[in-house]
Amino acid sequence: HPHLLGIEGLTPGEITLILDRAQHYAEKNRTADKTSNILAGATVVNLFYENSTRTLTSFELAAKRLGAMVINMTVGTSSVKKGETLIDTAMTLNAMNPDALVVRHGDSGAVKLLSEKVNCAVLNAGDGRHEHPTQALLDALTIRRHKGRLHRLNVAICGDVAHSRVARSNILLLNTMGSRVRLVAPPTLIPSKIERMGVEIFHDMEEGLKDCDIVMMLRLQLERMEGSFIPSVREYFHFHGLDRAKLANAKPDALIMHPGPMNRGVEIDSEVADDVERSVIREQVEMGVAVRMATLELLVQNHRQSGGQA
Ligand code: CP
Repeated sequence: HPHLLGIEGLTPGEITLILDRAQHYAEKNRTADKTSNILAGATVVNLFYENSTRTLTSFELAAKRLGAMVINMTVGTSSVKKGETLIDTAMTLNAMNPDALVVRHGDSGAVKLLSEKVNCAVLNAGDGRHEHPTQALLDALTIRRHKGRLHRLNVAICGDVAHSRVARSNILLLNTMGSRVRLVAPPTLIPSKIERMGVEIFHDMEEGLKDCDIVMMLRLQLERMEGSFIPSVREYFHFHGLDRAKLANAKPDALIMHPGPMNRGVEIDSEVADDVERSVIREQVEMGVAVRMATLELLVQNHRQSGGQA
C-alpha cells in the first residue's frame, strides 16, 4: 500500500506486521535511546484542518525520533484562510517534495481525494466520520499488550458512535483480527446501517457491558451535532456515562479505554478514567507514538523504494 487511508483493506498479517514493529518502538521509547536515523533525509508534513493534541504531537515526535524533518502546517495561519482549496494546498506542499503528508480533515473522504493528487505517502490522521487508522492501531497495540491477543475478545464501544471515525476504524480492525464488537449507545447515536459492519447493538449500558473484556468509551462530539438532537449532559451521563456501577457488569479484568480528548463527567466518570489498575488511557497515548513511528517508517521506506512516486 502506498498510503495509510484506513484500516479497510488491511489484512490480519499487515496489521500484525505494523503492531510488531510498533511494539519494537514502544520498548525503545522507554529507554534512553529513543532515536534512530532510519528516516534521515526524509521530510514529513503534518497538515491538520481540525484541532488535535495527541495525533499531531505524536506524529511530530514519531518523525523526529526516526530522524526525519517535520513541518507542521497550522491551517489557522496558512493561506487556507485566504481561500486556498484543499487540493491546491496539497499540490503546493507536494511541489516541495515531501516524503509523507499526514492529513486530518473534517470531511469523510478528503484524505483519499488528496492522496490521488500527490506523489508522496499519505497517512490519514482522521477524516470526518470515516476513519482514524492510527488510532485503531494504537488501541490494538494497547489491547494486545494487556490481553496477549486480538482474537476472541468481547469489545464494547460505547457512546457517540454516530460521529466517530475512531469507532469505525476499531470495528474494522477488531473484526479483521477475530474479535466481537458491540456498540452500546442510545438509538440517536447509532448510525443507520452500521449492523452491516458485523456488530451487535445495545442501548442499555448494563446489558451491553456484560462480560466484556474491553470497554472503549467515546467522546460525545457536541461540535458535530446540530438541530434537534443535542442531549442533556446530565441525563447522558446518568444513562450512558461509564461509572463504577455500570463497569461492574464487565469482566473484573476488563480494560477501560478512551481515545481522548475526554469529557469527564459526560461520557466517563473521573474515578473510572483514573483507575490505576484498569484504565489504559495514558498507555494508549504512549502507544500512539510507537504506532506512528512504525507506520511512518513502513510508508516512507515503501515510497523511497518505489522511486519517490506514490
Ligand atoms: N484521539 C485523538 O485523535 O486525539 P486528538 O484529536 O487530540 O489528536
